[in-house]
Amino acid sequence: MVKTLIEKVTEDLYLLRLDDDQVKYFEALWYIPEGITYNAYLLITRNKVILFDTWKHIYAKEFIDTLTRVVDIKDVDYIVVHHMEPDHSGAIPKVLELNGYRAEVLGHPLVKMMLESFYRIKPKFRPLRDGEEINIDGKKLKFIHTPWLHWPETIMTYLVDDKVLLSGDAFGGFSVPPSIFDDEEGVVAKYIPYSREYVASIVGHYKEHIVKNIEKIGKLGIEVKIIAPSHGIVWRRAPNIIIDYYMKWAKAAPERGKIVVIYSSMYGFVEKAVSIAIKELTEQGYQPVVLRFTDSHYDTVNDLLGEVIDAEALVIAAATYETSIFPYMQYVVNMIAEKIASEKPVLILSSYGWGGIAGKRIASILSQAGFKVVDIIEFRGLPAGDTEENIKRRVKEFIKILQA
Ligand code: FEO
Repeated sequence: MVKTLIEKVTEDLYLLRLDDDQVKYFEALWYIPEGITYNAYLLITRNKVILFDTWKHIYAKEFIDTLTRVVDIKDVDYIVVHHMEPDHSGAIPKVLELNGYRAEVLGHPLVKMMLESFYRIKPKFRPLRDGEEINIDGKKLKFIHTPWLHWPETIMTYLVDDKVLLSGDAFGGFSVPPSIFDDEEGVVAKYIPYSREYVASIVGHYKEHIVKNIEKIGKLGIEVKIIAPSHGIVWRRAPNIIIDYYMKWAKAAPERGKIVVIYSSMYGFVEKAVSIAIKELTEQGYQPVVLRFTDSHYDTVNDLLGEVIDAEALVIAAATYETSIFPYMQYVVNMIAEKIASEKPVLILSSYGWGGIAGKRIASILSQAGFKVVDIIEFRGLPAGDTEENIKRRVKEFIKILQA
């Protein structure tokens, strides 16, 4: 059952949050049994009502029910669109319909075209310039263009008087945190891996824009007391924590000593090779994080990307399959290249029955994305005897390179 919450963020700013524990595949792609929240905000001044975003379209009814617990929908004067992805814009048409199209929509210039093409609606629209400040009923709102966080039209709103940054997708995360705010360290600690996974999978492709936009906000010289994102926790105790994490993840900064092992194995040959490598890594003091795709277990790709983003090095293993890479591993490797292009060192293990192809293909995809492929260990069938010794020796050499 989805749950809806209303909570005051400041004296006149309300969070309207829907806890979506029903979604299985976010964007029809990312498996998130942990769920996600959609956060909209509502600013109520003495004479004006400003709505910031909405929820996913299938929750339009829940959104209207929640909104109307706080205000009369006819009283909504402005709708600020931070981002047009339908997990946030989906209920806008219903709000406008019930509002009698009284409200003026404010957003990046692209929003007008997107509202028309997504929802076939043409509301009153006011395009916002980057850095533009608008005074509404004594409240100063500053709009900041933050392109590619997550789409080209994404913006943030800074509520100047209260020092609140409504940040859209940025600084958000997967999961349904048990509390609204970051007040408890334990809640934050549990949430951070879901935020890391979200960054890696959702905005990972645009990571240089995370860096650029955080630097841009920094240069504005504004004090941010509260970060109110469109997913997950609202940051009021220590907003810098999530800013610092986002910067670190955007740079794919490595956690020292974190080696991530990723493999697929159909009949256990690759798995045997991987177990030899893991044993060697463990004997050398590492505690590798292992993700696998076998006939009894599939990890999620978003979880995997979350682990890869702050890894120091990767070990990737897959078999040759129909003169290419085992198909699901091809998808995984492409995703790693696409989302986490970085210079992390990689060791590749690859088995084959009669002709080895996968190892070189994986190396080619990752090298093109900037990864440093240190070695490719190819072997025929079950690794034993000389092959086993060969894997041990080359894993040791890989570790030496990491420690150099
Ligand atoms: Fe949460 Fe890019 O939408």
